[in-house]
Amino acid sequence: EGEALVDRFGRVHRDLRISVTDRCNFRCVYCMPEEGVAFRPREELLTYEEITRVARVAKALGVRSVRITGGEPLVRRDVPTLVAQLAAVGFEDLALTTNGTRLAALAEPLAEAGLQRVNVSCDSLRPERFAAIRRRGDLATVLAAMDAAEAAGLHPLKVNVVLLAGVNDDEIVDFAAFARRTGRVVRFIEFMPLDAEGRWAREQVVPAERVLAEIDAVWPLEPVPDADPSAPAERYRFRDGGRGEIGVVASVTRPFCGRCDRLRLTADGAIRNCLFSDDERSVRELLRDGASDEAIAQVLRAAVGAKRAGHGMDDPGFLRPQRSMSMIGG
Ligand code: GTP
Ligand code: 5AD
Ligand code: SF4
Repeated sequence: EGEALVDRFGRVHRDLRISVTDRCNFRCVYCMPEEGVAFRPREELLTYEEITRVARVAKALGVRSVRITGGEPLVRRDVPTLVAQLAAVGFEDLALTTNGTRLAALAEPLAEAGLQRVNVSCDSLRPERFAAIRRRGDLATVLAAMDAAEAAGLHPLKVNVVLLAGVNDDEIVDFAAFARRTGRVVRFIEFMPLDAEGRWAREQVVPAERVLAEIDAVWPLEPVPDADPSAPAERYRFRDGGRGEIGVVASVTRPFCGRCDRLRLTADGAIRNCLFSDDERSVRELLRDGASDEAIAQVLRAAVGAKRAGHGMDDPGFLRPQRSMSMIGG
């Protein structure tokens, strides 16, 4: 292992999130506007070979886990080909986050290519409400995709629920029941100011503390021992031994920035050191101009070296980042 990616605050970076496209076939209210956003032209997207090269350099610098994101990653062609290339580089953890629309058909080929697990977004268990939040697609397809993923051996299956006050926050206990019924990990995510329409407001955030209290009142919870401290989700299990697990990603009320070990590669080839920072350093030209691995490593080191202590959401004068969620990759 070469020099590790350690930042000014001593955080060691071991997790790379790779966005393969900024496109998506959904228009979730907390992410994209109905009319979409200006998508990057094809030629600006890194090829799978280019992505794999960056991943290989990152691995030499200590990165151990890779997650494929979008937009919606599975709207790009042949993602299993990329998975096979990344699996050949060799990571301890190789996962993908998806909206589930194309997962039923792709679960088998993805698993065969070496994908270990998937996280599927699903914000409501009520069909009309699901459609209202996501503005495209339907609940049944996404639920079927979860079954297909498990049948293909993609375990554990995690379900991401972005909670919006007054919209779906009456389903917290229903989702906990879903976790117990299916044995899946249900994670409640606080709404972050990364939606393209700029609608985010603190009043719309459903605090993790409330989520945990509501579930605990019905089925008492306890923290999962030895959980990875650098993971954004805090993990809980049911004290009565019930199946499934509950997680909360409390980016707004209990930020985990101090333990962050993440780096991002955007679909258009920029290294981004934080969801909330516009600090981006392109490696696309380097990749296309025959630069050395060391030159790419230097960009990774520089990005980590410039990383700020936290997202700064609570600072006076906080500015939302220029790119919204679908363009960064979640
Ligand atoms: P696991 O490895 O399965 O725990 O996945 P994950 O939680 O790291 O990834 P996933 O793509 O499922 O993201 C879940 C939620 O965490 C999403 O809302 C992401 O936007 C959010 N998230 C992921 N990374 C970060 C981060 O570095 N900072 C913040 N604030 N949120 C993040
Ligand atoms: N706040 C919190 N989570 C979000 N996601 C998308 N937009 C937001 C937002 N504004 C989630 C998606 C998906 C993950 C990649 O990020 O639901 O699960
Ligand atoms: Fe698409 Fe995911 Fe954004 Fe929804 S949250 S619009 S599924 S990229």
